Amino acid sequence: MTADFGSELDGQVAIVTGASSGIGSATAASLASRGASVVLAARRESELEDVAARIEDTDGEALVVPTDVTEDDDIDALVEAALDEYGRIDVLVNNAGLMPLAHIGEADRETLQTTIDVNLRGLITLTHAVVPTMLEQESGHIVNLSSVVGRFLQANSSHYNAAKAGVKMFGDSLRLDVAEEGIHVATIEPGAVDTELLDHIPDDEVRENVKEYVGTMDALAPEDIARTIAFVVTQPERVDINEVLIRPLDQVQP
Ligand SMILES: NC(=O)c1ccc[n+]([C@@H]2O[C@H](COP(=O)([O-])OP(=O)(O)OC[C@H]3O[C@@H](n4cnc5c(N)ncnc54)[C@H](OP(=O)(O)O)[C@@H]3O)[C@@H](O)[C@H]2O)c1
Repeated sequence: MTADFGSELDGQVAIVTGASSGIGSATAASLASRGASVVLAARRESELEDVAARIEDTDGEALVVPTDVTEDDDIDALVEAALDEYGRIDVLVNNAGLMPLAHIGEADRETLQTTIDVNLRGLITLTHAVVPTMLEQESGHIVNLSSVVGRFLQANSSHYNAAKAGVKMFGDSLRLDVAEEGIHVATIEPGAVDTELLDHIPDDEVRENVKEYVGTMDALAPEDIARTIAFVVTQPERVDINEVLIRPLDQVQP
């Protein structure tokens, strides 16, 4: 079977972090269906293998590289594996994330630090590892997953909001440094998307409250964000989509 959407990304190579589930898995499939070779990164290898198998079933090209974005060695190994296999990196989707919401008075220190480490520090470290290749190529797309809560307030979420606001500011500042070199930087700010993200909220009460709130909406599907990311990275070279805030129609706040 040929690519569903033509071949806008033929010959391009995309690294997608957090590709083992949700938005990352849908984005990898979407980019592969447009012709990109996708490098799938996350911690759970068997889930990554399943995603790769689905991509290969539709004649797509995928490489699995088990990666913990909080480990510098894993980040270096991921970039090296992509370059060894394909020789270039055209798209980096910094999507790996977790949202262990908690009141600051109830959260343990490890939860706060992991939130920053995965959502922000890992994203910055991987970007730092990929940018030299893009500078050499004089082209590239860096797509960072922030959130509506990178812009708007949310209770029991000060650490997560801080991480996601940091993602937005990192991307906007990075653009100043790299746009002239042909590198595009976009921040995606989704509202509620139906994924396993909420299942990993450790506090039972907070998790059930958030699930109840999200249950009042017709939440976005991961494919809605994947389609948006594909749109961002398939524009004419002169076009630079800086930021996309995308929510379910019935989510007017946050
Ligand atoms: N769902 C929403 O409503 C929503 C809204 C706004 C923003 N977002 C953002 O969208 C992104 C994707 O989330 P999602 O909704 O698709 O949730 P998800 O299905 O839980 O996906 C999160 C992904 O991140 C990976 N991950 C977590 N820790 C990691 C680590 N240390 N190293 C590497 N990968 C790691 C997970 O894979 P492993 O466990 O296999 O490592 C998983 O593939 C996140 O950045 C999230 O903050 C989501």
